[in-house]
Amino acid sequence: MSRAHRDYFNDLAAGWPEAAQNASKFLSWLRDFAVTPGDRILDVGAGKGILTLWLQTLASFSVQTIPVDLSERMLLLGKRSQPQALSTAVCSDIEHAAFHDNLFDKAICYSVFPHITHPVQAGRELYRLLKPGGRLLVLHSQCSRKLNLFHAQLADPVMYDTLMPAVDLQALFLRLGFIPVRVEENPQLYWVEVAKPLQTK
Ligand SMILES: C[S@@+](CC[C@H](N)C(=O)[O-])C[C@H]1O[C@@H](n2cnc3c(N)ncnc32)[C@H](O)[C@@H]1O
Repeated sequence: MSRAHRDYFNDLAAGWPEAAQNASKFLSWLRDFAVTPGDRILDVGAGKGILTLWLQTLASFSVQTIPVDLSERMLLLGKRSQPQALSTAVCSDIEHAAFHDNLFDKAICYSVFPHITHPVQAGRELYRLLKPGGRLLVLHSQCSRKLNLFHAQLADPVMYDTLMPAVDLQALFLRLGFIPVRVEENPQLYWVEVAKPLQTK
């Protein structure tokens, strides 16, 4: 686990946003990811629950969302303002998450992947946690080039955090056994979506 990252995000938690500024963008992303009633969804690096909140407040989606985050303070402060939405939150490093195998229909890593110290280990863990046929989405609202320039202006340890090009992350996931669904990268979007095969070895 990266203690430096946990401390960094704990320190940021008080000022971290709780609500999305661009609601329509979130809604269209969730529709494109085919979030369906009954889904059990892992919100990886949930922070104060921006994505979880959207997943749970959409009347048409009766989904179960499990927010997970390394920073206990993000989750604590998120729970204070949104106790219902974050009632299932778990404080854990996604590289070693204490969940059963084959538990989730979907996992979304929104604005978290570059901060994960060992992306291969996180990918293995996400593969384990998804049901056969389950989908993984790594999502950002900008391309890796813009995000990496932004991170470089920040403080240690986040200044060293880089997001690899979307095609490279997809290739990493395919080596772990996932199958490709969609990869797209442009200045406003980074989308890497893969699926765990229905038949696993
Ligand atoms: C940039 S913030 C994004 C938070 C949230 N997704 C949002 O958009 O508001 C990244 C979050 O990922 C969490 N995080 C970083 N590394 C993690 C890991 N290995 N496992 C779980 N969470 C992690 C951080 O604690 C932080 O809350």
